[in-house]
Amino acid sequence: MKVYHVPSYDVMSQKAANLISAQIILYPQSVLGLATGSTPIGVYERLVDKHNNGELDCGGLTTFNLDEYCGLSEDDPQSYHYFMKSHLFSKVNINKEKIHLPDASAKDIEKECKRYDSQIEACGIDLQLLGIGNNGHIGFNEPGAVFEGDTHCVDLDESTILANARFFDDPNDVPRKAVTMGMKSIMLAKRILLVANGEAKRAILEKSLYGPITPLVPASILQLHPDLTVVWSD
Ligand code: F6R
Repeated sequence: MKVYHVPSYDVMSQKAANLISAQIILYPQSVLGLATGSTPIGVYERLVDKHNNGELDCGGLTTFNLDEYCGLSEDDPQSYHYFMKSHLFSKVNINKEKIHLPDASAKDIEKECKRYDSQIEACGIDLQLLGIGNNGHIGFNEPGAVFEGDTHCVDLDESTILANARFFDDPNDVPRKAVTMGMKSIMLAKRILLVANGEAKRAILEKSLYGPITPLVPASILQLHPDLTVVWSD
């Protein structure tokens, strides 16, 4: 595990964007696993800057996002489809056919989860970008009795709903359910890059990286990954 403790959100974003760009420049056909949430916004901004400066060609990339809320349409500004479009996909030359997010409004969610896993399995993720929730979740793998391997539908934790209420006009609008990639796809990624920002994440990050490996702290499983890089600022 490599841990970079950097002095600011800006440096965190720059460092993570540099690591992702290096992956893309060395392997233009890379498969990236992508995250949403407030933390990676600066990373995506830097990647867009690099693209605009002619340093980054995203034309060969394939992407898989970690998760999506149930009950929101793709065009809903709170959906993760919309987030990715507005922060990255509409701003770089990515092939729209190679963008993948789970369809959390599918009629048959179980079938959709299986479909998503088989797509990921067929491609394999080269570099997975992760944020971390205040309760240690990665994707929306919430604390629980077991590490769930496959893409699945999850009841969001009360603490996650509270944390994400800041993005919604009315806290009652925060969806209660989401579809998330499971631990298997995350752990099978060749490389993992975890970004975290803010004093509030310090304790959970320390628990995750140095505490016991337990599904009660979902990110603790990352200690078992052979190529984990963490970039965090407080
Ligand atoms: C989002 C995701 C979540 C977030 C986490 C942290 O796709 O996978 O695990 O990374 O909730 O969110 P922020 O960055 O808003 O603190």
